[in-house]
Amino acid sequence: MAEIVGAYFTSHVPAIGGAIAREDQQAPYWKPFFDGFPPVREWLAQVSPDAVISFSNDHGLNFFLDKMPTFAVGAAEEYHNADEGWGLPVYKSMRGHAALSWHIIEGLVADEFDVTTCQEMLVDHALSIPFELAWPDAPEWPVRLVPIGINTVQHPLPSARRCLALGRSVHKAIESWQGNERIVIIGTGGLSHQLDGQRAGFMNKDYDEFCMDNLASDPDALTRDSIHEIVRLAGTQGVEVLNWIAARGALGPAARELHRNYHIPISNTAAATMVLEPA
Ligand code: DHB
Ligand code: FE
Repeated sequence: MAEIVGAYFTSHVPAIGGAIAREDQQAPYWKPFFDGFPPVREWLAQVSPDAVISFSNDHGLNFFLDKMPTFAVGAAEEYHNADEGWGLPVYKSMRGHAALSWHIIEGLVADEFDVTTCQEMLVDHALSIPFELAWPDAPEWPVRLVPIGINTVQHPLPSARRCLALGRSVHKAIESWQGNERIVIIGTGGLSHQLDGQRAGFMNKDYDEFCMDNLASDPDALTRDSIHEIVRLAGTQGVEVLNWIAARGALGPAARELHRNYHIPISNTAAATMVLEPA
């Protein structure tokens, strides 16, 4: 039987890719952030996953403001990296797991989530940065991918409650999957940040701590706020926390926190990294 071995959450700021490319990890600006990753890598080596189900948002590569699916599920055998180029060089493709994708899509639609199915999907910094942080210098990624995209960009956005329910439906689908994969759930983006408008540069440590403190033990607490309230608390791009909430739902009912790192700022973002295991 397939097993969900845990969940890894991290910010996906493109500038991290620039720091990796320049080998700047030990510079004073970057060290407190990169120091959060040895425990993540040790844990991954220990749980040895061969599949990833990721929750992230597209940043204009696949969907722009004219066409914006609320929930998009990749169903391809390969995902090409086509980042905008301000971080890591555009390189390694990601191997997909189309059969698992279709099983998850069947489950989501049966649970009345009307998802967009994508037999072609490009990946951007929302996945390449978390992957490179997890498996630095890997000649090829050790996992096959099912990418799930959540609209955190073009309003109206799905509610936090809906994103948690989406993740829980993915968990349910995995329970009826007949494969024997070891699956890691990945949630990327956040935490608080705002890149544009009068509040550009806004971050909110109190709200981020509220999210991190409740993620393992009481994820429903993260659904107390409306989208507009989350924008107010976390910033216009801080709503990427929706990806974390969905990923937490996919992990399963009970979870315990294994690791956390939080550092302000990386670029314009309050950068956070967490590892949770099923409890
Ligand atoms: C930054 C953060 C993001 O989440 C993103 O997608 C792009 C840029 C930043 O802080 O620079
Ligand atoms: Fe982002």
